[in-house]
Amino acid sequence: MIKVIFLGFGNVNSHIFDALHKSRETSIVQIFNRNYSKLTSPFENIPFTYNISKIADADVYIIGIPDDAIAVFSESLVLQNKLVVHTSGGAAMSALSSKNRRGIFYPLQTFSKQRKVDFTKIPICIEAENSKDLELLRSLGEAISENVVEISSEKRAKLHLAAVFVNNFVNHLYEIGSEILKDEDLPFELLQPLIAETASKIETLSPEEAQTGPARRNDRKTIEKHLHLLADSPYRKLYELFTEQLNQRHGKEL
Ligand SMILES: NC(=O)c1ccc[n+]([C@@H]2O[C@H](COP(=O)([O-])OP(=O)(O)OC[C@H]3O[C@@H](n4cnc5c(N)ncnc54)[C@H](OP(=O)(O)O)[C@@H]3O)[C@@H](O)[C@H]2O)c1
Repeated sequence: MIKVIFLGFGNVNSHIFDALHKSRETSIVQIFNRNYSKLTSPFENIPFTYNISKIADADVYIIGIPDDAIAVFSESLVLQNKLVVHTSGGAAMSALSSKNRRGIFYPLQTFSKQRKVDFTKIPICIEAENSKDLELLRSLGEAISENVVEISSEKRAKLHLAAVFVNNFVNHLYEIGSEILKDEDLPFELLQPLIAETASKIETLSPEEAQTGPARRNDRKTIEKHLHLLADSPYRKLYELFTEQLNQRHGKEL
């Protein structure tokens, strides 16, 4: 039985909790959060503390707080020589204080408190300073996911960079699409089947093969029309940049 304590209880840690709570191989000993959080089901029976000096004993401590707070927070822990991990894609393992054994437990997914996720398919990227801790993190990951991978801090930084492109930037493009439709009193739902198929087809085609559209076809007339529609828009530059990138990649002159 792997004993786990959560340090911080935001989006990520509450989702990891949800998944680990259902596992028979793990036991959740305590939740720490710097501010009082009223825990509702399924968290209500788990011991909670906001007192950093009252953190209990466990095999793994999972820090789930903003990246720029990890260093100071991990240094402020009273623990010594415990396995303390963080859940960030972008922060290095060395961001953690060296007074404890350091590790990474990064679930590669986008988490929002109001959305349930199926953890079994989520890649969990692990790293540790020694092989015993790595195996412990592998067992912890395998308790909730079918896809646990060892990845160094350097490679994880690149993985996180790629994730920002395919998740955060793509989501920003949804925001732009939604705004353009809103100006015409059209519902965003009109775009949803297109968005679903775009995501679904890259399960069988490479992103290069899946690309369509005016830039890929070198359809100058349509491109000029779109640029005209974007004449006073802050998104014109973005459209031009994407079109130029696609042109370079697919080797056609615009
Ligand atoms: N969200 C995602 O989709 C996602 C995906 C993968 C990995 N991650 C990583 O997971 C980590 C947590 O992200 P999150 O989205 O779960 O964050 P979040 O929802 O914003 O959670 C913030 C948590 O951190 C605590 N906190 C904030 N500042 C703190 C500080 N200075 N000292 C101590 N505790 C502090 C908050 O406590 P209070 O309640 O008291 O404010 C809260 O419990 C980050 O490293 C992030 O990069 C996020």
